Amino acid sequence: MSAILPPAERLWWKHPLDRVEGTWILLSLIWCLIMFGMMVGWHIYGKQNLSTETYKTNPEKFTASAQAFVDKYTVRTETAEKTPVVAPPPGSDIYMIARLWSFWPILELEKDKTYRLHLTSMDYNHGFSLQPANINIQIVPGYEHVVTITPNQAGTYSVVCNEYCGINHHSMVGRIYVK
Ligand code: CUA
Repeated sequence: MSAILPPAERLWWKHPLDRVEGTWILLSLIWCLIMFGMMVGWHIYGKQNLSTETYKTNPEKFTASAQAFVDKYTVRTETAEKTPVVAPPPGSDIYMIARLWSFWPILELEKDKTYRLHLTSMDYNHGFSLQPANINIQIVPGYEHVVTITPNQAGTYSVVCNEYCGINHHSMVGRIYVK
């Protein structure tokens, strides 16, 4: 019999299952279930899967909270666009807005202190990839993602957008200082 010719019995799903075939299907199924369980497991035991809370929001509502936060805690400005550098007190709610093609504002955090980071997008899907830490979150417009973070290493971190979002996607970077 040749694989070039059509099978004599067209209804292949009515053929009896070979033992080897059945074994592989069973093994695959067991492995799928293990991987499915690991999705939950990695959240508890893994080091990179952040648990985020997600709420509905809209640009007006989120901008109001972010603007109030920036007005209250800005310590200086940086870059040609005069991006505010915001140094909030430990334990507070902190905000970052992603839009074509920037992250706003710059955050200045204290090491070993916990913050609740609120993220949203004003337009399209963006990504929040924190470098060099292995943290990666999608930022979806219309939603507020809240991540509880405790930076444990001082330094200058870059926020890189890793969801393709148009012609200047490559220049969409933000900054977080930890000291
Ligand atoms: Cu924002 Cu790519």
